[in-house]
Amino acid sequence: MNKKVSLTGIKPTGMPHLGNYVGSIRPALELAKDFDARYFIADYHALNQIKDPVKLKDMTFEVAAAWLACGLDPNSVLFYRQSDVPETFELATILMAFTPKGLMNRAHAYKAVVQQNEEDGNAQDDGVNIGLFTYPILMSADILLFDADVVPVGKDQLQHLEMANDIAQSINFNYKSEILKLPQAFTHDNAGLIVGLDGRKMSKSYNNEISLFLPEKKLRKIIMKIVTNSQTIEEPKDPETCNVFSLYKVFATPEQQQQLKERYLAGGLGWGDAKQALFEAINEQLKQPREKYFELLENREYVDSVLKEGAEKARVIASATIKRLRKAIGID
Ligand code: TRP
Repeated sequence: MNKKVSLTGIKPTGMPHLGNYVGSIRPALELAKDFDARYFIADYHALNQIKDPVKLKDMTFEVAAAWLACGLDPNSVLFYRQSDVPETFELATILMAFTPKGLMNRAHAYKAVVQQNEEDGNAQDDGVNIGLFTYPILMSADILLFDADVVPVGKDQLQHLEMANDIAQSINFNYKSEILKLPQAFTHDNAGLIVGLDGRKMSKSYNNEISLFLPEKKLRKIIMKIVTNSQTIEEPKDPETCNVFSLYKVFATPEQQQQLKERYLAGGLGWGDAKQALFEAINEQLKQPREKYFELLENREYVDSVLKEGAEKARVIASATIKRLRKAIGID
């Protein structure tokens, strides 16, 4: 039986934090159990921001190591680097001929920059490179190249998926055949729900993140910094409005949650104790991946070889799609 295809792109933008783990890594790996999973490092997407070659290389390697450490099994998940699949860029060129400029004008990421420029009194396209402008086309190519059925992404990427659908539909319509598969977004309930140290959504841009592979001592130290209210130890506490408990829910078993909840409500629980419980729950889940991560950091050749092998297999699929398209468009 053929499994459905799940595909996602991972932007190498530094060490993942707990929000990335809960919102994207963990659910994508969960999905991989039931799907034919194709996950890749989107290094050409990152080039729009990262223009330092050493940094780009290191970040690509680190994020690959992080996913492997979290349990991505390269024997069952096709794992590759976008840049190792040149068919992506041929497909992007084909897609451009079917993408109205107006569609790109409406992309949130581009519009946000334009709006900022207007507020600052700058020219509308100040600081906008064409890579940012056409970002949704490259992303559509990543997706359509691999016949993705579902694409696990954060909510901020939904518009890009709609665009991939629009572009694929105009190609299918023009050539009157289902050349490209229409992908569906798959967003997870808890995406965006995880709070950072200050209680706002965990995000690098708020500087409130807890990095995924902090050594144990540092992890404990940073958890102790989570903002809580000034209730005394004796007072009963409300778990539902507490940043510590909100994170605890994401990492502890239902039984553990129930137990801690009761301790909150009973009073006599200090914030230090609650944070210690949180530290233990997080540490329990991250202990093994952390060890594996540090092992992989010392073993760059292994990670490179995994990605290379992945790319070879990926190109077999990719070239079949390109062949199909070239035939349809009259360039074969
Ligand atoms: N744009 C995605 C992000 O910023 C990364 C990405 C690139 C992607 N290509 C993709 C995600 C294809 C899903 C499918 O997170």
